[in-house]
Amino acid sequence: MPEKVNIAIDGPAGAGKSTVARGVAGALGFRYLDTGAMYRAVALLALEKKIDIYDHHSLCELAKDAKIDIINSNSGETTVLLNGADVSAAIRTPRVTKIVSDVSKVPGVRSILVEAQKMLARSGGVVMEGRDIGTVVMPDARYKFYLVASALERAGRRARDLERMGFSVNLKDLADEIKRRDHIDSSREADPLKPAEDAIIIDCTSMSAEEVINSIVTTVAEGLS
Ligand code: DC
Repeated sequence: MPEKVNIAIDGPAGAGKSTVARGVAGALGFRYLDTGAMYRAVALLALEKKIDIYDHHSLCELAKDAKIDIINSNSGETTVLLNGADVSAAIRTPRVTKIVSDVSKVPGVRSILVEAQKMLARSGGVVMEGRDIGTVVMPDARYKFYLVASALERAGRRARDLERMGFSVNLKDLADEIKRRDHIDSSREADPLKPAEDAIIIDCTSMSAEEVINSIVTTVAEGLS
């Protein structure tokens, strides 16, 4: 078993972070944490409770009271529990995707979730995926990777994910949605999306998930040997 270092994987929507982070964690026997799922759970709760996304005070109260548990099975499945209910599918629906960037730009929501994520990283051996992991959540992570891919490739990946979930998709709408989320995520004041200065940037446009996973695992294994 490799030394229990932490690995940060950041990048814009649709760059393939989840598949890659899960694969790297599996290969190294590390824990995997999808921090986007936590922001999505708060966004879902806001929709369920009919909270206005501009009502920052109420959004912070929601985030404070929400009990979010992320459980990874040995077979690689991730279950997200929100106040005890399985919301794994509900947090991936287009209505949640549409508002999640606006919910996650609220500084108070971020500080509550970032604190929880820092706690989860304390014991080491974590592959954590998000937007601000290398810059804010785990600035001391031994390894930081920042995945990028062209907007068209990212929209195509998102289309395939949604089609698997049974949604009909329009590639142009998806590309516009991705650009809109990129803009909100990278221009927000609190913890914007950007590579850490010491992150290794990987352009995944023409790489398969396996190739990206192998490249990261090789870098980590070489560093730890
Ligand atoms: O990775 P994702 O698409 O599931 O993330 C959903 C949203 O959550 C994304 O638009 C930005 C936000 N997010 C964030 O601000 N910080 C993180 N560490 C992870 C996600």
